[in-house]
Amino acid sequence: MSSATITGAQALGDLRGCKLLFSGFHAPELGRIEEFRNAILTLGDDGTILSVEHDGDTEGAVPLPEGWVLIPGLVDLHVHAPQYAQLGTALDVPLEDWLQTYTFPLEARFADLDYAAEVYSALIDDMLALGTTTALHFATIHVPATQKLAEICLAKGQRALVGKVAMDDPVQCPPDYRDSTAQDAVDGTRAVIDHINGLPDNNGMVFPVVTPRFVPSCTDACLEGLGKLAAETGAHIQSHISESDWQHGYVKDRCGCSDAQAFERFGLLRDNAVFAHGTHLSDSDLDLMAQNGAAVAHCPLSNVYFSGAVFPLRKALERGLDVGFGSDVSGGPTASMWETARMGISASRIRESGVEAAKPVERRGSGDKRIDFREAFYIATRGGGAALGLPVGAFVQGMKFDAIAINTLEPAGTVRIWPEDKTEAPNDLFLEKLLYTVSKSNIAGVWTDGINRLQKNQG
Ligand code: GUN
Ligand code: FE
Repeated sequence: MSSATITGAQALGDLRGCKLLFSGFHAPELGRIEEFRNAILTLGDDGTILSVEHDGDTEGAVPLPEGWVLIPGLVDLHVHAPQYAQLGTALDVPLEDWLQTYTFPLEARFADLDYAAEVYSALIDDMLALGTTTALHFATIHVPATQKLAEICLAKGQRALVGKVAMDDPVQCPPDYRDSTAQDAVDGTRAVIDHINGLPDNNGMVFPVVTPRFVPSCTDACLEGLGKLAAETGAHIQSHISESDWQHGYVKDRCGCSDAQAFERFGLLRDNAVFAHGTHLSDSDLDLMAQNGAAVAHCPLSNVYFSGAVFPLRKALERGLDVGFGSDVSGGPTASMWETARMGISASRIRESGVEAAKPVERRGSGDKRIDFREAFYIATRGGGAALGLPVGAFVQGMKFDAIAINTLEPAGTVRIWPEDKTEAPNDLFLEKLLYTVSKSNIAGVWTDGINRLQKNQG
């Protein structure tokens, strides 16, 4: 498409092959914010970023409307897609009861493909509308419904990594919701990998993921088989790691080691492997993960309900671990990465400061330095992209144009602009304001591969 032949809102539907005139922000590295003011971004015909210039030639460029601010799309590193059907409920019991009482019975219903399609469609629409352009999804044990989730992501244009959940251990999994054997779990996983890799027009949009639910729900044979399958296919891996006292202790008792050591033993701790929570990881577990190139999905809201501890985020970052945020729908009661990132900042401050006013200040907190909004912005965008080994999360040549536009002037939104916001000086405090005040109504455009996926803005 040539930029000369299109104008206005229509042009914003499909930016492939266009030159875009925009203002905005990205965080190409942890802690470094770069601001763009009337910059020029050029897209290739496949939605790849060809160049980004602060003082580029504006001739023939498509301008973003006044008041719109462009940032990279948000990455959700941990979503249980079926659990969207119980979002905001059932959080009054510990993890082990929540799984058996509410979650396994709910997920068992995804044997019904129509029900699955209804829930999955609503989730992907809602995530895109909130600005989540990439997501790492747990589906259920069911092969057809998992394949359906991948197809829905592809059709709606969410960059997605989708895994059939493997869970075969009769000790922890109910009879009506488990893989009948370890071999079944591995075969089903392979069937989904083959299906996703064979989807027509899937050019780096949807990926398969080897997905052992967590160590307690998988037999050793299952974990071993999945490790081999991941090595053979090169697929991504996801699971839960050291999430709660109960879970961490269960693995210690059964395997005689930590979760991280167990995953390493089964060939599951490696590059492109993302583990959720990690609140109970020891320093040596964090080292082991870093050495193996594994990443963490930090789920600060969910951890409040299930973990009994705050993830040692600063320690993970200091070790060079890739960390992104996860909503953990529905262990976290929102699909919004905005709320998740805000909680990530709050949790890190609580971890730093401690909670008990009666203790002297110097003994009250963990001693770990908090993160600020700059680091949270990186973690929510490029941090997640790096964890997945995908070229997303920053406006850099060679990356995909996965981006969102925030309309700061939207009357129905929650961003309010005052004269002092309009300073000409570089001003990353404006980004801080956006991180804290944006809501769904402010999100005016959501592009993956250069195509606007937001229904309300389609031509
Ligand atoms: N551990 C095993 N399964 C789950 C799940 O669905 N959610 C969370 N938060 N932890 C888990
Ligand atoms: Fe989870």
